[in-house]
Amino acid sequence: MSAPDPVDRLRRLRTTPAVRDLVADVNLSTNDLVAPLFVREQIVEPQPIESLPGVVQHTVDSVRREVAELVELGLRAVVLFGVPAVKDAVGSGAYDPDGIVQVALRALRADLGDEVVLIADLCVDEYTDHGHCGVLDAHGRVDNDATLELYARAGVAQADAGAHIVAPSGMMDGQVAAIREALDRAGHQSPAILAYAAKYASALYGPFRDAVDVEIADGGDRRGYQQDPRRRREAMLEITRDLEQGADMIMVKPAVAYLDIIAAAHERFEVPLAAYHVSGEYAMVHAAAERGWIDGPAVMVEQLTAIKRAGADLILTYAARSFAESVGRP
Ligand code: PBG
Repeated sequence: MSAPDPVDRLRRLRTTPAVRDLVADVNLSTNDLVAPLFVREQIVEPQPIESLPGVVQHTVDSVRREVAELVELGLRAVVLFGVPAVKDAVGSGAYDPDGIVQVALRALRADLGDEVVLIADLCVDEYTDHGHCGVLDAHGRVDNDATLELYARAGVAQADAGAHIVAPSGMMDGQVAAIREALDRAGHQSPAILAYAAKYASALYGPFRDAVDVEIADGGDRRGYQQDPRRRREAMLEITRDLEQGADMIMVKPAVAYLDIIAAAHERFEVPLAAYHVSGEYAMVHAAAERGWIDGPAVMVEQLTAIKRAGADLILTYAARSFAESVGRP
């Protein structure tokens, strides 16, 4: 008697769409996705972002319509980024109670209450005239500790305005502790902190910087505070530090190019793990699809599935709306 053919046995569960659906163990759903949204001060019409097809800079009115539609489509969460009319050295629009994100948060919370999770990206680079994620010292370097003060104020302003979750993305050391302490002092016990814990200094953020009108002064970059892509284990250290400081959720960013980091973080930590499918990852799929070189929607779903398969519990992606439209309401 010869042994059964192992190839045949595996193929039996691939024969029909129904059997494939039945045995699939990684199923992407609208519950997993968070839509990043940009809201810009002092514009009257939404502005398209050339390098992010399908994504716009919203007015407060249009972001209210957009979020209502996303909820209708079955999505459960959005993350807001602000584009102020005026930028300054300290990024004061990030913590001004009348700053654009705070205005949008108040409107959305009034419209939708707790029906959608409102996440506020917490950083100052969209608001600083030099484009860095913090204030600069006399030598033009980002001053970590002086920046913590600003993040603490921004976190409180966002919580005051109705954010369910604040998401510090600036990679300053000690940022989670500073924000947690300020929220506690202000009596905000409910807002959770989603820490952009392992955020790499990536070349994949280009279209995002178009979306928020950020150009880093003097041809600078963020390598002094974001992680070096050549370091793997340091990501675990970053995450550990953020959890010690009181983070409720952690994030790895970018996503597709950092699946190894997502997988390692999933194995090691018990808190919900987010991954940011960033602007460059999204834009590349669109650009190749536009040339007819790949099937864009299929590649997008394949990428998002890979991110989930690696271990992400939630995915921030510009494809959230198109995915929700393609699957219909669950
Ligand atoms: C910083 C921030 C960035 C992104 C999210 N938050 C840009 C950066 O670090 O330069 C990038 C997101 C994307 O590329 O989609 N506030």
